[in-house]
Amino acid sequence: MKHMLPPFPYYHASLEPHIDARTMALHHDQHHASYVANLNSALEQFPELQERTALWLLLNLSKVPEKIRTAVHNNAGGHVNHSLFWRAMSPGTRDGPAGRLADAIKRDFGGLEQFQARFDDAGGKLFGSGWVWLARAQQDGGRLQVCTTSGHDNPLMQGHYPILVNDVWEHAYYLKHQNRRGDYLKGWWPVVNWEEAARRFERSDRSAEQDPEAESLLEPVIG
Ligand SMILES: [Fe+2]
Repeated sequence: MKHMLPPFPYYHASLEPHIDARTMALHHDQHHASYVANLNSALEQFPELQERTALWLLLNLSKVPEKIRTAVHNNAGGHVNHSLFWRAMSPGTRDGPAGRLADAIKRDFGGLEQFQARFDDAGGKLFGSGWVWLARAQQDGGRLQVCTTSGHDNPLMQGHYPILVNDVWEHAYYLKHQNRRGDYLKGWWPVVNWEEAARRFERSDRSAEQDPEAESLLEPVIG
C-alpha cells in the first residue's frame, strides 16, 4: 500500500478571505504531498510496514526500525495531522459548536469565547513549528483541554483524542500574515467546521483501540 495524498475537500479559494488560495494550494499540494512522498520513500525497504496506516506507524514508533524512525515519525505525523486539518475547516459561515460538544466546552472552559482565547493563546505561545489542539483526555474523566504539539506530533501519542486542530507552522500563514501568527489564529475561527468537531467529540467516547473506525476517521486515504 502506498500512502496517498487525500483529495482536497473543497476548492483552494473556498476559505478566502480568511485563508488565501495560494497558501492553501502550497500547503496541500506541496507541503502535505511532500510528507506523503517522504513517508513512502522511507518505507520502501520495509515491506512489512507498508500495510500499516500512517496513524499506526505514528503510535507504534518503537516497532519501526531505528534507521527510518525519525523519517517515519515526522512524515507519518505530517500526513495524519494535515489529513485532520483539512477536515477541521469548511467553507461558508457556520454557527459555533452545538449539542454535547457545546455543553462540554461550557463545562470545561466556561464558554466558547474563553475556549477560543485559551486556544489562541496556546497556539501563539508555541515555540517553533507545531499544532494547537482541542483534545479530550481519555483519562481524567474525559475532560476537554487545549494542548500543543511540536513538529508533527499528535495528542493521541499522549492518549488524548483530537477534536479540533489548527496548524501553526509558518507555512500555514506566512504568505498572508508574515510573522503575525496571532492574526492568523484569530482570523481562523470563521472557517472552523464545527460539525466535524462535534462528530469527532461523539467518537471520542471510545479509545482508538476500541473504535475500529478510528484510523479511517483520522486518515481518510484510499489505497
Ligand atoms: Fe502544515
